[in-house]
Amino acid sequence: MATFISNSPTETEAIGRRLAEHISVGSILALKGDLGSGKTSFVKGLVAGLDSSASVTSPTFTILHEYRGGRLPVYHFDFFRVEDRQSVERLGLDDYFFGDGLSVIEWADRFPKFIPEQARWILFEIKSENQRAITLQ
Ligand SMILES: Nc1ncnc2c1ncn2[C@@H]1O[C@H](COP(=O)(O)OP(=O)(O)O)[C@@H](O)[C@H]1O
Ligand SMILES: [Mg+2]
Repeated sequence: MATFISNSPTETEAIGRRLAEHISVGSILALKGDLGSGKTSFVKGLVAGLDSSASVTSPTFTILHEYRGGRLPVYHFDFFRVEDRQSVERLGLDDYFFGDGLSVIEWADRFPKFIPEQARWILFEIKSENQRAITLQ
């Protein structure tokens, strides 16, 4: 377990960028933390760190965004507004999780049973207006 302290959105992105170096095909990152805790900022850094210039936004309404153009494709999920497990089942997650890229899931803790064992959990905590604690579990 390792905790990083971030004092700005840019620092949170930088943590994502650094982690991108350790990402390989089939990596799964399960993100957990309140609204505004920096999950999407972190994914921005990850995508940039994989050398993609895709613009990253929370896939809150569509559940999934895909980013191309980098070292690996990125499958960015957000379970915040997903209501039931049937909706998760319909996504066919395993095709992404065991596919050709990186999968990263915001609000993964809403449906933890769908998150494979080998996923790396990352906890985002709001410490103050501009400070976040990011813990790799
Ligand atoms: N250290 C920080 N890291 C990330 N975001 C921060 C930080 N300090 C303040 N913020 C603000 O918190 C919000 C984080 O939003 P976002 O990354 O979309 O979070 P989430 O996806 O967890 O809801 C943004 O408005 C950002 O400006
Ligand atoms: Mg988000």
